[in-house]
Amino acid sequence: MTNFSRIIGTGSYLPERILTNEELAGRVDTSHDWIVERTGIYERRIAAPDQTTCDMAEIAAQRAMETAGVGADDIDLIVLATCTPDRVFPSTACLLQERLGIQGGGAFDVTAACAGFIYAFATADNFIRAGAAKRALVVGAETMSRVIDWNDRGTCILFADGAGAVVLEQSDEPGVYSTHLHADGRYKDLLAVPGWVSPDYNDQPAPSPFMTMQGNEVFRVAVGSLGDVVLEALKANGLERSDVDWLIPHQANIRIIQAIARRLRLSMEQVVTTIETQGNTSAASVPLALDTAVRDGRVKPGELLLLEAFGGGFAWGSALVRF
Ligand code: ACO
Repeated sequence: MTNFSRIIGTGSYLPERILTNEELAGRVDTSHDWIVERTGIYERRIAAPDQTTCDMAEIAAQRAMETAGVGADDIDLIVLATCTPDRVFPSTACLLQERLGIQGGGAFDVTAACAGFIYAFATADNFIRAGAAKRALVVGAETMSRVIDWNDRGTCILFADGAGAVVLEQSDEPGVYSTHLHADGRYKDLLAVPGWVSPDYNDQPAPSPFMTMQGNEVFRVAVGSLGDVVLEALKANGLERSDVDWLIPHQANIRIIQAIARRLRLSMEQVVTTIETQGNTSAASVPLALDTAVRDGRVKPGELLLLEAFGGGFAWGSALVRF
């Protein structure tokens, strides 16, 4: 018997605080119109000062488990994607496991910046396919506001906080048709938070604890790589562009999303965008977009979803899913 995995529940969480473009324009040299025109973002959510990645992951995970109709005893694997963990270790997945009262199975973090959820999803899918897990909680959660230099107009306008989660369960039929992961470490310096666990910097200045990004270069490579990876997913499954019901992309920039929709010959009506009100929540953006579209009734059981994301590393990937 072949094992597949399928999504049996989704959930998400956004912090209450809304940060508008106007507020940012009061802080750095930018404007509401520039941000909307170049990124598609109108506003974004920012975590409260005492709120952590695990706090947001907990609520998103509870909501996903609730819609899946599963309890703590039913989960035998937690894979959590974040590049803004609560601690260096233990992993945020272990902190989340304790919060949710889950015991026994494996729990670990995956770090692939904005591609993190696709990496976590692919990992959990492969565990289930291999028969090593039956029911996995897959989470993307980020507090990007903590690694943003709020004086850098090239990054502070883009990033935001939030969490999304899915429950994946073993199934005789897909479910998840395929996942494809890629990385190219030669681009390590174009998008990074250079400082953290540090060597001895006694003789030299420590690297920045804030994000640095060469936005236009990232943009160029992202459009090419994502265009290729979505077509790779269809080809691997013998499917046509017209078979896709929904593109659920990482929410980095509306112009990147539009470019990928064009490569797939999809109208924007078939693309789930949340960037307008959520900004770029890194590893949380794909499960946040998925949960938003499930809850508002756009994504329905049986539809074919193409998930994709691109981020620091560079790391990128896709997942093709029958919902
Ligand atoms: N407001 C006003 N002007 C600005 C701003 C701003 N916030 N930011 C940059 N500019 C200026 C620049 O200084 C430049 O001015 P100049 O022509 O006088 O030099 C001009 O606008 C154009 O700059 P570009 O960087 O070429 O602008 P671009 O259209 O590329 O937009 C942006 C910048 C929005 C950052 C875009 O490049 C982008 O979205 N890049 C991709 C980001 C991304 O996908 N990241 C990957 C995932 S993130 C992760 O993994 C953590």
